[in-house]
Amino acid sequence: MFDNGYGFFSDDYREYIIKTPKTPRPWINVISNGDYGVVVSSTGSGYSWRTHASLNRITRWNQDIIKDDWGKYIYIRDASTGFFWSPTWKPVCAEPQSFELSHGLGYSEFRTQYFDIFSRLRIFVAKNDPVEIWQLTLKNNSNKERKLSLFTYLEWNLGAAPDWHREFHRSFIETEYVEDKNCILARKRLWELVNEKGQHWNRDWEYTAFFASNITPVSAEGSKEHFIGMYGNVTSPKAVVEGKLFGVFGKWEDPIASLQHEITLKPGEEKTLIYLLGAVKTDESLEEILRIYSSKTRAEEELESVKTYWSKLLDRFSVETPDKAFDIMNNVWLKYQAISGRLWGRTAYYQTGGAYGFRDQLQDSQIFLYLDPEQTKKQIKLHAAHQFSSGIVYHWWHPLSEEGNVSGYSDDLLWLPFVTVRYLKETGDIAFLKEKVRFCDGGEGSIYEHCVRAIDNILGRFGSHGLPLIGTGDWNDGMNAVGTGEKGESVWVGHFLYGILKEFEVVCELAGDAERKEEYKIRAFELKEAINRHGWDGKWYLRAYKDSGEPVGSSQNQEGKIYLNAQTWAILNDTASDDRKRLAYESAKKYLFREYGPILFHPAYSIPDPEIGYLTRYAPGMRENGGLYTHAGTWAVLAAARMNDPNTYSIYRSFMPVYRGMEPDKYLVEPYVTPGNVDGPDSPYFGRGGWSWYTGSAAWYFIAGVEGVLGILPTWEGLKLDPKIPEDWDQVSVKRLFRGVEYRIVIKRTGRKEIIISGEKIDGDVVPPFKDRKSVDVEVHI
Ligand code: GLC
Repeated sequence: MFDNGYGFFSDDYREYIIKTPKTPRPWINVISNGDYGVVVSSTGSGYSWRTHASLNRITRWNQDIIKDDWGKYIYIRDASTGFFWSPTWKPVCAEPQSFELSHGLGYSEFRTQYFDIFSRLRIFVAKNDPVEIWQLTLKNNSNKERKLSLFTYLEWNLGAAPDWHREFHRSFIETEYVEDKNCILARKRLWELVNEKGQHWNRDWEYTAFFASNITPVSAEGSKEHFIGMYGNVTSPKAVVEGKLFGVFGKWEDPIASLQHEITLKPGEEKTLIYLLGAVKTDESLEEILRIYSSKTRAEEELESVKTYWSKLLDRFSVETPDKAFDIMNNVWLKYQAISGRLWGRTAYYQTGGAYGFRDQLQDSQIFLYLDPEQTKKQIKLHAAHQFSSGIVYHWWHPLSEEGNVSGYSDDLLWLPFVTVRYLKETGDIAFLKEKVRFCDGGEGSIYEHCVRAIDNILGRFGSHGLPLIGTGDWNDGMNAVGTGEKGESVWVGHFLYGILKEFEVVCELAGDAERKEEYKIRAFELKEAINRHGWDGKWYLRAYKDSGEPVGSSQNQEGKIYLNAQTWAILNDTASDDRKRLAYESAKKYLFREYGPILFHPAYSIPDPEIGYLTRYAPGMRENGGLYTHAGTWAVLAAARMNDPNTYSIYRSFMPVYRGMEPDKYLVEPYVTPGNVDGPDSPYFGRGGWSWYTGSAAWYFIAGVEGVLGILPTWEGLKLDPKIPEDWDQVSVKRLFRGVEYRIVIKRTGRKEIIISGEKIDGDVVPPFKDRKSVDVEVHI
């Protein structure tokens, strides 16, 4: 399905199958079990980590999207000819006789053939153990017996990445080969994290990394110099050219891991090897891991259980529409991207992360509202625990070290009440408001208190126009200079805060806090007045005021005249009157809704503006400088739905990866996940995707599809059903859990405009929650 010449989707949507390693950019998979993870690209390159992809990288990798030549590689050498190749493609880059790669849910599988030897390499991560499994099957498709030498190669990183001062870091790594376990071990006597006395560079790396195989190798290697050869390279390493390893390990090498196996295959014969790579802590049993996963049957069972896990989780929400691309994205890939990539891996190719962003993973966790709301709750609690008692929060923090960057951003903290409201509407779990969580500087408070401290903190930081101060930025990280003088204000935060204040009138009521409810009501009223008095430019809303008082996003500006978020959130949060909504929306459509999606603002900045920030310093049309910033683009879809725009679906479709992927040489990035950005009209590469996988747009694009296009919206009272599906869709079926009950919703275009539950017509468009049923059948006639 959707074959674009480079690849296509499998019939069950669960795999993206790539037909050549030479995709326009590396097309990757982010495989994670929530702790251990692997990124693998279409060339076979990539890296591994545990818990934190930057503080605890297991294997070395350098970010080079063009060469994509860092990874964990395999070489196969034919003893009779001396020819060798890699069963993926990199690093040898021999011309394959056939090449197919499936990126699936929790695994990737290369199926290739070189020199009449077929290989199937499956890479996956055990569900509950810190180990990745490579299952390599080789089959001799020639008519003569083949003697093959197999060499693996990876460079140990063990800790903070990139290890830019390699000569320093390698001095602390020691490796050994444990013969009776077929296993190379690697340890590091230094870690970037401070120790319990607060001392730097005075702590062990608290893991043992291992690389093992189920079949006894003929030799092993721990030294890069011996493997590559002095002045050599990974394409043609000395050890592979010569067909032998030296077995050098210890504390004095540039440390790598390589195992050599000799196998003989008769014509038609096939053999399977298993390699295991991972890192254990002292209290975890390496022996147990090696024992379990060295078994071929057990490894196969594990892969099955990984697949079943993903299917069961993702299938809790499913949809069937006339557009298969919509189904592919919403049934499978957006959910997988948001969970495996954003929440668990927190890393990819364009950004190798590992930290938690306060606003980022909170927003991402909304995906779990549809699948397992307990996980959203856990995420809210985790973030609440990274809030100070004053209400401010960490902009990001590192798991493992718990170090972070205290946020001066005006929106970060507000995402806590925002997502809490989303969780409450979804689950009706009002008791959650009473759950206690510690503040990171001591003391504890209920979730309700955590939320109101965030809100109250922002309510105490307003500027001269009666709008919230923008601080060191708001959702737009790149507007980091607008308000450093503590005068600049954000119109967008005004819209955002207004919506939260209105929702909190309900939450305060639920929490029995009448006084605060009254206060929020007054503050919301005043804020709306201020936004409309000082935030209106005539045909659209301004984006901000600089410290100097100069507006940003105004028709008076030379560049950056109109910003998307300032219009979409005025609509979404009802800060605008109906007339202004219409005007703001029309302006956004006119200037911002472009061929490849709604761009962030227009025109792009050609000259950096030091009073706005680094957003203006990107090349014009790229990323936050006037491109489609996909995350913000999804809010435009939601706004279109709210405006009852009959073109809502075409706006959604304008940046849908599956369709954009049909022009792969223009779009470049993966057709199965959302990119962070697409170049806007002011770039010579208008329409080019970038920064794929690691983007907050994954969960939001799903929400835009389900809540915007399909119009199935959780509210305090129940599920609101107000579809905005395109004219040519006659029927849509949705299976969705809501407060523990399965709702089977069928939207039908009959012109009758009614909602029928179990044969009975209901009043209005909100389906109340049912407690006493397992499932509910709902017909929505439009
Ligand atoms: C990046 C950041 C996100 C921010 C967005 C816009 O995606 O991770 O937090 O909101 O850029 O600046």
